[in-house]
Amino acid sequence: MLKVTKAVFPVAGLGTRFLPATKASPKEMLPVVDKPLIQYAVEEAVAAGITEMIFVTGRSKRAIEDHFDKSYEIEAELEARGKAKLLEVVRNIKPHNVDCFYVRQPEALGLGHAVLCAEKLVGDNPFAVILADDLLYGTPPVMKQMVEVFDHYHSSVLGVEEIPPSETRSYGIVEGKEWEDSIVKLSGIVEKPAPEDAPSNLGVVGRYVLKPRIFNHLRSIKPGAGGEIQLTDAIQSLLADEQVLAYKYHGTRFDCGSKLGYLKATVEFALRHAEVGADFAEYLHSRKPVMEG
Ligand code: G1P
Repeated sequence: MLKVTKAVFPVAGLGTRFLPATKASPKEMLPVVDKPLIQYAVEEAVAAGITEMIFVTGRSKRAIEDHFDKSYEIEAELEARGKAKLLEVVRNIKPHNVDCFYVRQPEALGLGHAVLCAEKLVGDNPFAVILADDLLYGTPPVMKQMVEVFDHYHSSVLGVEEIPPSETRSYGIVEGKEWEDSIVKLSGIVEKPAPEDAPSNLGVVGRYVLKPRIFNHLRSIKPGAGGEIQLTDAIQSLLADEQVLAYKYHGTRFDCGSKLGYLKATVEFALRHAEVGADFAEYLHSRKPVMEG
C-alpha cells in the first residue's frame, strides 16, 4: 500500500471573515506568535512523514512562495551578525528533505476545484489536504494521527469534531455509524446544511487524507453550495465507489479564519511558547486595563 507523502494546501481563497488583514498579505501568512499559519500547517505535514508540499495558490498569494524559498539576504545578514539561533530557524522553514510545488488556481471556484488543480502533481497517490486556517494542536500532531488511521484501514479519512448544532452551516457534516473508538464509517456527507437538515453534529475540520480516486469525482460533479465545486460533494460521490472514514481527532482546533479564533490561538500558543510563555501568563494574570480613555 502506498504511503502518504504528499500534501495539498489550498491557499487561493480570500478569507472573507478576515478580509481587512488579508488584502495585502494572504491570511495563511498571518503569524500566530512567531510563525505564519502556513508554517504550522507544513510542520504538521512534516510530522506525519509528508515530504512533498503542493500549494494551490492564487493572485496575491506570492508571499507563500517567498516564505518557503531560500532567503539569501536574510541568511547572509544573520551569519554576518553571528545570530546562529535565528539562522537555524530561518534555514529550517523548509527542511532539507521537503520539496515545495506551486500550482495556480486561476479562479476561486471552490475547495474541490482547488484540489483538482493539484491533480497532475499528486498523480496516482493518496494525499493529504490541509486547510491552514484551521490551526490544529495535537500530540501526536493531528495529520500524523490521520495518516496512521489511513495506513491501518487503507480508506480515505476525514478529520471531524463535534460542533455546536447551531453551527452546521459552517461545515461539511458527516453521517455514519461509529465503527470503532473515534472512527465513523461514512454513509453520507453534506456541505453546510441548516441545523434542521444536518445528519449529525460531526463537522469536518480542514484535514483530509484522500485516495486518488477522488479526482474522478471532482472532475464530474456539478457546482454545489455557493455555486462552487465542493470537495464535500466529491466525497459524497466517492462513497458510491469506496469506503470513507471520519476520524474524531484528538486535539484542539483554532478557527483562524475568524478573528476570535485567531485571537484564541494567539493567546494559547503564546502561553505555551518557550521564550515568552511564562512572562505572558504573568501578564494575563496581573493584567489591568491600560488603554482607558
Ligand atoms: C471548508 C469545507 C467544509 C469544511 C471546512 C473546515 O469550508 O468546504 O466542508 O467543514 O472547510 O474548515 P470553508 O471553511 O472553507 O468555507
